[in-house]
Amino acid sequence: MALSHNFLLLCSVFIFISSATIAQTSFRPKALLLPVSKDAATLQYVTHINQRTPLVPVKLTVHLGGETLWVDCEKGFVSSSFKPARCGSAQCSLATADACSGLNVCGQSVGNPIIRTSTHGDIGQDVVSLQSTDGSNPGRVVKVPNFIFTCGATLLVRGLANGVTGMAGLGRSKIALPTQLAAAFSFKRKFALCLSSSTSPDENGVIIFGDGPYVIRPDIDVSKSLTYTPLFINPVSTAGAFSLGDKSFEYFIGVKSVNVNGKAIPLNKTLLSIDSNGIGGTKISTVDPYTVLETSIYNAVVSAFVNGMPTVKRVSSVAPFGACFNSSDIFTTRIGYAVPWIDLVLQSQNVKFSVTGANSMVRVSDDVLCLGFVDGGVNPRTSIVVGGYQLENNLLQFDLASSRLGFSPSLIVEYRTNCGYFNFTSN
Ligand SMILES: *[C@@H]1O[C@H](CO)[C@@H](O)[C@H](O)[C@H]1NC(C)=O
Ligand SMILES: *[C@@H]1O[C@H](CO)[C@@H](O)[C@H](O)[C@H]1NC(C)=O
Ligand SMILES: *[C@@H]1O[C@H](CO)[C@@H](O)[C@H](O)[C@H]1NC(C)=O
Repeated sequence: MALSHNFLLLCSVFIFISSATIAQTSFRPKALLLPVSKDAATLQYVTHINQRTPLVPVKLTVHLGGETLWVDCEKGFVSSSFKPARCGSAQCSLATADACSGLNVCGQSVGNPIIRTSTHGDIGQDVVSLQSTDGSNPGRVVKVPNFIFTCGATLLVRGLANGVTGMAGLGRSKIALPTQLAAAFSFKRKFALCLSSSTSPDENGVIIFGDGPYVIRPDIDVSKSLTYTPLFINPVSTAGAFSLGDKSFEYFIGVKSVNVNGKAIPLNKTLLSIDSNGIGGTKISTVDPYTVLETSIYNAVVSAFVNGMPTVKRVSSVAPFGACFNSSDIFTTRIGYAVPWIDLVLQSQNVKFSVTGANSMVRVSDDVLCLGFVDGGVNPRTSIVVGGYQLENNLLQFDLASSRLGFSPSLIVEYRTNCGYFNFTSN
């Protein structure tokens, strides 16, 4: 009896504390948002989040498959609210930390996939603040007082866009932004990513944590026009450094075939599935500016694409691309260049992620357009890496709880709008 009485007492204390925390943030948002710009020099997608006390905006490169939010804590990190995570604490276990420093702070390896470098990073907690949203506009600012993140090193910032001091991990881990934010505000473990093709600061794309609506234009809720496909878990980590037995935090989809101009191209199907060593398959990446294909897949796509437009003259290649064309031979329509469509066919012929001219052709000079796909070599870890350029102006919804991806048609083709039209003016 005494025990259960104490237990009840504890529960009420806990409820009291939780409601006090909620009261401080004054209301419970249904969704949160981050603006995403495209950096013209590096082609990285960059967001910013306010962190620390006093709050400062921290610029971060978006890493869709990243395990954590990491920032450079070696240089210029000042905060009166920073708390290192003590070894053995709940924070360390959420972060699956596997190291303990002499100062009794837990840590794990943390990496920058763009320069393929990893190092040890301590786990810590600090305040972050971001705007809530009703799906149409930004709303009130909310704070997460004890957001878990990783302290990276200055050497990891190399290769990131100007002014960026870390990366925003959106992967499947417990400490990546989607799961931590969903836990802090009890909303669904879902987020949407809508990358803008524009490098203009007036046309930012958006990440919305939580459920829809996703209103990209006043009359268009893109959450209503999503097609769904299962997300797969790669049993072997795809990070730069990892421990034996670690699964990948990245998002894999099941591409079964590739169509060019509506016709399946010949492919070695073995490459399309993930084997027991974690090799093969298809993932989605925001740190690869263009889609990267294993050599035999790349050659098959290029060959079908070139054959699909016999009247277009091929010109010398411009790196990193291997198939470039004289743009005066290619018609431009309201929905982009008139070139063969490339479809990634998923669980059935009716479910496909279509790459149309707006997402396939890259202008490299006044009279040259290149197919924006890159040859990934003969033995890549992942056979198809769908990169940023092919994701732009398509809204993607990652649903971690149901392990499925929702994707819209190209907003340009379907609605004559794009991800840069999200209204960032507060109500
Ligand atoms: C298909 O790809 C697998 C995996 O790389 C390879 O082992 C196999 O030899 C390939 N098959 C053909 C017919 O090229
Ligand atoms: C493209 O075609 C036009 C017209 O035929 C020609 O003047 C131009 O030199 C060509 N450009 C390249 C890069 O081949
Ligand atoms: C953006 O939202 C604001 C606030 O609701 C509104 O006043 C404005 O008209 C909207 N802009 C557009 C282009 O819809």
